[in-house]
Amino acid sequence: MTEMEVKGCIFDLDGVIVDTAKFHFLAWKRLADQLEIHFTLEDNELLKGVSRMESLEIILEIGNISLPAETKNEYAELKNKWYVEYISRMSDEDILPGCLQFIIELKKAGIRVAIGSASKNTPLILSRIGLSDLFDAVADGNNVSNAKPNPEVFLKAADMIGIEPGKCIVFEDAIAGVQAALNAGMMCVGVGSAEVLTKAHIVISDLSKMNLEMLEMAGNEIGLQKKNDFS
Ligand code: BG6
Ligand code: MG
Repeated sequence: MTEMEVKGCIFDLDGVIVDTAKFHFLAWKRLADQLEIHFTLEDNELLKGVSRMESLEIILEIGNISLPAETKNEYAELKNKWYVEYISRMSDEDILPGCLQFIIELKKAGIRVAIGSASKNTPLILSRIGLSDLFDAVADGNNVSNAKPNPEVFLKAADMIGIEPGKCIVFEDAIAGVQAALNAGMMCVGVGSAEVLTKAHIVISDLSKMNLEMLEMAGNEIGLQKKNDFS
């Protein structure tokens, strides 16, 4: 048997552990309506994995509106106030299928697990869903400054769990997040649609489709792919 390539697993939060995209949409939609900007569910796809301020920039661009920095800060804060109201009602029932079982299996096997998220609300969400103590480390919008596709958040998470990037596998649902994982030199499992996450090494529909055995196979296969890429 070949030695397991994967020593650390880094999970994006929104869309991988918990489905918060609907709450982000509701809050952005409320702001867009107020600004009389036509903002659709399709537009919302562009915001996945993107930081709060960059999300606002995208919406203002859709509405062809330019605003002074101070007003933009006020709107970003207003959107966050509404978003926090929505997510404050979440509970452990909002954890996505298969997620908890898989992470517990990883921990039992001695694999280090971390969160790598753009969200400044990560601590609040983890607390609402009862997972504050599950992860060995949390890298999020509060302790990194460069948004995905910059690799900073994943490199920070790897550093916090003490595993080299080449031995980490990232689970991501956003195009920007997959790119961030690749930029960090990490393996990447896309969580969602293979048609959207074209750059991920492999894609699964949700974490209930993943277990330790599959991870080992995927890790070895991706490791080989990566070696071939560089040869
Ligand atoms: C990402 C979400 O995880 O976090 C984005 O996919 C969101 O939609 C970003 O904009 C920042 O989140 P927050 O909670 O700091 O506004
Ligand atoms: Mg996400």
